[in-house]
Amino acid sequence: MSRVFVFRQYGGPETQALVDRDVPEPGPGEVRVAVRAAGVNPADWKRRSGRFGTRIALPAPMGLELAGVVDAVGADVRGLVVGDAVLGLPARGRGALAEHTIARAEDLVPKPAAVSFADAAALPVAGATAYDVVHQVPLDPGASVLVTGAGGGVGVIAVQLAVAVLGLRVIGTGSEAKRALVEDLGAVFVASGPGVEQRLAAAAPGGVDAVVDLVGGNALREAAHLARDPAAVVSTADPGTARELGGAGVVRHPTRESLGALLGHVVAGHVRPRVSKVLPLERAADAVAAVETGHATGKVVVEVG
Ligand SMILES: NC(=O)c1ccc[n+]([C@@H]2O[C@H](COP(=O)([O-])OP(=O)(O)OC[C@H]3O[C@@H](n4cnc5c(N)ncnc54)[C@H](OP(=O)(O)O)[C@@H]3O)[C@@H](O)[C@H]2O)c1
Repeated sequence: MSRVFVFRQYGGPETQALVDRDVPEPGPGEVRVAVRAAGVNPADWKRRSGRFGTRIALPAPMGLELAGVVDAVGADVRGLVVGDAVLGLPARGRGALAEHTIARAEDLVPKPAAVSFADAAALPVAGATAYDVVHQVPLDPGASVLVTGAGGGVGVIAVQLAVAVLGLRVIGTGSEAKRALVEDLGAVFVASGPGVEQRLAAAAPGGVDAVVDLVGGNALREAAHLARDPAAVVSTADPGTARELGGAGVVRHPTRESLGALLGHVVAGHVRPRVSKVLPLERAADAVAAVETGHATGKVVVEVG
């Protein structure tokens, strides 16, 4: 048997449970991964709540990004063998918050030995999204960008890529508790909350070249004013409001491409995954709850085994 964290009904955290099921077998083009670590994302609880629709079969395995070791290989898989350390996405309908899961070989990349399983598990969704969003508006080195929610799972990677790889001047917003973290990432920190528009105007009197929004709603509306060109506003959190303001939602690229490029920067030391909390699979509910507050610091990861 093998344990997996699921939600049994659409709704609140009370619908979640760690359950036993048979060890899954990979089909053609798939491998089975013995999961060593899984990242937790806002999309985990948003899917459970029904916000993304109610068509997933129940009980639904949770967890959207993983790092682990290949322990069975299906037919027609080239380039992966049992024992390979990998990171990437579980296959549709499978979960990363599990002892074993199934992944399409094309959704995995090799895990560099220098990157821990916990750090690797922070990258396939949050990191690849950060990679895509900071590259969406082409900017020259020295240009300025405002990142809202700079201290969260996507934000910590987005700010480091913007500063250390793209050479941008970055302003990052977050609650006061994240000031030291955001400054350490290389951004100018501006506290979120009442008065943020005035503080942002003071930090960038001439505006900024782009806004990367990772929060949505009012935080996006308040931040978008700062963009000199409304088309340079991109949101991962609230594409509808971004479009209403003249901007766009993030355009995701195939995970393998963005993740591969991002890993190069991690190995080179330009980007460091910021995992703030690591919990065992038995405490997956606490890990999801920490992200469901909307105020996680960096990345929350579940370790397996
Ligand atoms: N489209 C995609 O493919 C995709 C992929 C990944 C994520 N996303 C979305 O992108 C968003 C960010 O994801 P994430 O993983 O970074 O979430 P997260 O880890 O929960 O981080 C969100 C951050 O936003 C901050 N925040 C909350 N309210 C704020 C406000 N009013 N002003 C400034 N900061 C505020 C929080 O910190 P404080 O405690 O400092 O407030 C927190 O650090 C989510 O909506 C997620 O669903 C989309």
